[in-house]
Amino acid sequence: MIRNQLLRTGEMAKIRIKSRSEIEAMRRSGKAASILLQRIGEAVKPGASTYELDQVSRETIKELGGISSFLGYQLPEHEPYPATICASINEEVIHGIPSRNRILKKGDIIGIDTAIFLGGYHGDNAFTFCVGEISPDAQKLLDVTRGALYRAIDAAKPGNRLGDVCYATQNYAETHGCSVARDFVGHGIGRKMHEAPQVANFGEPGKGVRLKPGMVLAIEPMINAGTHEAVVRENGWTAATADGSLSAHFEHTVAILSDGPEILTYNSELWGD
Ligand code: MF3
Ligand code: CO
Repeated sequence: MIRNQLLRTGEMAKIRIKSRSEIEAMRRSGKAASILLQRIGEAVKPGASTYELDQVSRETIKELGGISSFLGYQLPEHEPYPATICASINEEVIHGIPSRNRILKKGDIIGIDTAIFLGGYHGDNAFTFCVGEISPDAQKLLDVTRGALYRAIDAAKPGNRLGDVCYATQNYAETHGCSVARDFVGHGIGRKMHEAPQVANFGEPGKGVRLKPGMVLAIEPMINAGTHEAVVRENGWTAATADGSLSAHFEHTVAILSDGPEILTYNSELWGD
């Protein structure tokens, strides 16, 4: 989500701790989100339009018995979000709007972000797919962004602080020569797609709220190969890197349990191992 978005919508409240049964329900919405993302990924190929990917998403959401978390999403000073996925190609960081005119070609990378509302709870996840063979530089960016996500998830355990999660992302990305998009953040998630707290992809270890069992976070590093600066395109939604360098995005919905993090959107067929 956009940094400080919850403050602007007046929704920034206290962090909602989920009960055991709520976590159980979120396992179901998370699983559904992960199947949805995998299905969309199977449709990524040279010649496909991002409109077609959104159609796959719409059909799959219906089949899974949920509704889209994104379609019609309202944000001050923005048009309601017109699709069920964000499809962000190459230098686009986030919020790429599906279009019949955006055709994938070999060598592109495409970040697909999607979420489903099922059984009263949201599941939110994102993955950056390759279109055919990609350059070694693009592959490195994908590896670093995935690595940053998993470092952040490892830090999402009781006793740690939120800053430890934020710092883990930043430290991994910057150590590997990449930069962190500043204007967009992860978020708490539950009955609402965007809940407190915001989960920045940079921060200071040992700072911020203490993490407790029952917190559920959507952790979503957006990592750039060049500058961290972003520009927003004329449609008011789509952000791209200011220098045109590549950007990647991976996201998991993660429950913090007493014995550590549980990835609610994990799907071995998509993510491997
Ligand atoms: N995963 C992104 C987020 O958490 C996508 C939001 S798309 C929107 O903010 F349409 F819902 F804004
Ligand atoms: Co999200």
